[in-house]
Amino acid sequence: MQETAWMVSLVLMLLITFGVIFVAINSDKRQEDYGPLVKSAYGFRTKLFWAVALVFLPAMIFNLMDLPYDVSRAAGKGAPQVINVTGHMWYWEMDRDEVSVGQPVEIHITSADVNHGFGIYDPSLRLVAQAQAMPGYTNVIRHTFDKEGTYRVLCMEYCGVAHHNMMTEIKVGKS
Ligand code: CUA
Repeated sequence: MQETAWMVSLVLMLLITFGVIFVAINSDKRQEDYGPLVKSAYGFRTKLFWAVALVFLPAMIFNLMDLPYDVSRAAGKGAPQVINVTGHMWYWEMDRDEVSVGQPVEIHITSADVNHGFGIYDPSLRLVAQAQAMPGYTNVIRHTFDKEGTYRVLCMEYCGVAHHNMMTEIKVGKS
């Protein structure tokens, strides 16, 4: 079955290759016939290019402005509150679970066994930040909590039978 598919695609590829070569060889002779057509088509193409550029460039800039990179960079000033996290089957080990609101937090995340997903949810269970917990590697989340409350940490990657039990909390309080 695979052999047949391979033969069929080989034949098709050869046909396309011959087609391309044929067109390439013959394209010289026909240039004059297409002269006017080429001119108007190219004109249209140029207009289309600028129309697309004018529509998409502002749209792209507008969308990129919403990325939080600047915010997290600005928040990075001053010493961050560091939390070291290690994922285990099936619990999170954290050296600290209380941080101050409005001040940068740096979370260093790794794993002792398999891949886990470290996901932080705000009190209304909206995901606010996440990173992979990988064995032999440390991922860093830089985040500034702007609301007080108890944030929940859930594992975001299936890691075995008790994956759903990998929960913990980060308490965000007054500074
Ligand atoms: Cu750890 Cu799923």
